[in-house]
Amino acid sequence: MSFMLPKSMDRPSDTPGKRTPSRVQPGSIIAVASGKGGVGKTFMSITLASALAQAGQRTLLVDGDLGLANVDVQLGIAPETDLAAVVAGWIELEDAVINVDGGAGQGGFDVLPGRSGSGTLAELSTDEVSRLTAGISALSLQYDKIVLDLGAGIEANCMRLARSADRALMVITDDPASMTDGYAFIKVLRGYAPDVEQSIIINQATTRAMGQQTYEAIARASKQFLGFRPALAGIVMRDEKVREAMRAQRTLISTDPSAQPIQDAIAIAQTLIGNSGGQNLHC
Ligand SMILES: Nc1ncnc2c1ncn2[C@@H]1O[C@H](COP(=O)(O)OP(=O)(O)O)[C@@H](O)[C@H]1O
Ligand SMILES: [Mg+2]
Repeated sequence: MSFMLPKSMDRPSDTPGKRTPSRVQPGSIIAVASGKGGVGKTFMSITLASALAQAGQRTLLVDGDLGLANVDVQLGIAPETDLAAVVAGWIELEDAVINVDGGAGQGGFDVLPGRSGSGTLAELSTDEVSRLTAGISALSLQYDKIVLDLGAGIEANCMRLARSADRALMVITDDPASMTDGYAFIKVLRGYAPDVEQSIIINQATTRAMGQQTYEAIARASKQFLGFRPALAGIVMRDEKVREAMRAQRTLISTDPSAQPIQDAIAIAQTLIGNSGGQNLHC
């Protein structure tokens, strides 16, 4: 199996309706991680990818949750190919890229879908994961931002994918299990890939104050036991509209962009464009 850059890289920049060619600098890879499942990684990944695209960033959303992949389901797309086929060596990475809402550079964004029910990420060999991350890195030359929706858990392959990122956004809720697992992810990733800049999103907050409290608990433990204090990327409020939209396979950012969790996510996307990763809370 080999990964190739999309053919469109060779096209002239003024070809109508086609993506513009590569940048000199690779776009930054942003992993959305959690430790625990069901906290809102996929919601955040899709919303951030849409928000980044709407802000003019050429964006690729990668469904890194192989095995339980559901980005395609949430987006209401039915891809013919996906990352599982790439990993199996049936197709090249470029052939799995799907345009959503016109695709990157055309008002929408691109997606590398996974597939539910395919082999899980944990089942891939180290070489397969390496080829996958090398392929994603090569693709990053064509994008400003790559959003990598990771699966739950802290197993080795998940960490290998996370390590390929420039930045990891840890999605954590006030559920004690989410806090414990989120902290475990922060700890393992810090040991494994200290260069990956970690920041925290508190999702499904019932009040801003509660969200801040949850963040402070994680940040304090990180400072005390790991010697660093991850920044707060943002607090995203809980709103039943998120669940309703997901159930209807709609994206809330397209149906109700003024909804609070969407506004919260847009604010996070803006900090990512500014490359600050959130409030600066180093101490
Ligand atoms: N801010 C939020 N408010 C309300 N429900 C949310 C919010 N974020 C996520 N959810 C809901 O939580 C559930 C899990 O979200 P999902 O993005 O699939 O999590 P993960 O990818 O971490 O497993 C979904 O039903 C989703 O609609
Ligand atoms: Mg998910």
